[in-house]
Amino acid sequence: MADRLSLTSSSMASLGTAAAASRLLPSATRARLSLSSSSSSPSLSLSSSSSIASVKVLRSSPLLSHLFLHQKRSSIHASSGGFSSVAAPKSFASDPDQLKSAREDIKELLKTSFCHPILVRLGWHDSGTYDKNIEEWPQRGGANGSLRFEIELKHAANAGLVNALKLLQPIKEKYSSVTYADLFQLASATAVEEAGGPKIPMIYGRVDVSGPEQCPEEGKLPDAGPPSPASHLRDVFYRMGLSDKEIVALSGAHTLGRSRPERSGWGKPETKYTKDGPGAPGGHSWTVQWLKFDNSYFKDIKERRDEDLLVLPTDAALFEDPSFKVYAEKYAEDQETFFKDYAEAHAKLSNLGAKFDPAEGFSLDDGPTKPAPEKFVAAKYSSGKRELSDTMKQKIRAEYEAVGGSPDKPLQSELFSKYHDCDCCFGTFDISARKLNWFF
Ligand code: HEM
Repeated sequence: MADRLSLTSSSMASLGTAAAASRLLPSATRARLSLSSSSSSPSLSLSSSSSIASVKVLRSSPLLSHLFLHQKRSSIHASSGGFSSVAAPKSFASDPDQLKSAREDIKELLKTSFCHPILVRLGWHDSGTYDKNIEEWPQRGGANGSLRFEIELKHAANAGLVNALKLLQPIKEKYSSVTYADLFQLASATAVEEAGGPKIPMIYGRVDVSGPEQCPEEGKLPDAGPPSPASHLRDVFYRMGLSDKEIVALSGAHTLGRSRPERSGWGKPETKYTKDGPGAPGGHSWTVQWLKFDNSYFKDIKERRDEDLLVLPTDAALFEDPSFKVYAEKYAEDQETFFKDYAEAHAKLSNLGAKFDPAEGFSLDDGPTKPAPEKFVAAKYSSGKRELSDTMKQKIRAEYEAVGGSPDKPLQSELFSKYHDCDCCFGTFDISARKLNWFF
């Protein structure tokens, strides 16, 4: 039974047009919808060849959530019910062959719509809600596809991202055995690579959350203009288990794209670099060639040569804070180091909070299925003295926490032997307890 869906109300306006909303539905489940906007509680009616249903759409009712929830259910059905052209291996969240085909479709999409930046932002905003202090999935947030639900799309930090979702939705419909969580991260990594950036050592197999009630609460992503930008960045990114180096490297993604005042409130409506597009014109870019991934973000912030190039307070902090500055200066000078650090940090960001099926994930490329995580090598911070500077303490702590260590929780033994690579830790490691003794 192939029902047909059309939306005839402006209630979707903030999230896109009726036609676009219709496209968000899987073709197999399209039904006819009509929505009266004359009432303060518009009513939504659904008609099919066999039935007509009327549903009250409450103001708080996440219409898109229903659509995407539906989409998810349909996908499960499709992969187990035989609609899918390639059968998914039973235990994998996403099908590797479908992921590879989806990657080719994303490349085509990029060629025609120049949407590289917004796809990168989409991937980051799905994973950047992660909280390393919460063990349970999906309560810990992260790369789990929750950003497809209206309730999360409506978070202020996500303004405009529904457009990225609309671009990807036809690809999602074509490849029903690819999860949203994988699709978002695949699209982001492909966009960086196609824009001339480094190859990202990605793994796949992310499991999707199933409903909007599993979305993270609002307020997990960073603000662009907090009272104290450097400490705000540390608060947010340390919560994700990321380090100063990773904060600076990842900020370099602003080499791509534009800020739009009607979305985030930041930047000019247009500049000499954006008034003619490509893609939708307007916005305020950080760099001159804002569809090219290189280290010009760091060069341009350092020089501050042009008012038509954006510098958010959090961007400026990278050259003001003494610890961030070491990396920002390095990346402005040395694109190779930026690319290497960015690729590692991006891969790590893309995995935050994710539940993988199979548990170790899988690569789409030849070679090792999983990149070796960076080792925690305390010795590299040692000056041979017992006393460490506050900055060094901060770094050690961030790196140790980034691999799952905490004052109360020993590292898993396997991880401990992997990361513990030092005989001179100022008495900071308790080998038998597999713990860093917190001396700060
Ligand atoms: C460090 C903290 C960060 C802050 C405060 C921040 C803030 C912002 C803001 C205000 C915008 C403009 C959004 C709009 O008006 O449409 C933006 C865009 C963007 N952000 Fe960030 N961001 C941060 C980190 C990141 C990271 C870690 C990445 C990726 C790894 C990233 C990738 C992007 C991209 C690619 C765009 C351009 C989107 C477009 O052109 O549509 N950002 N960011």
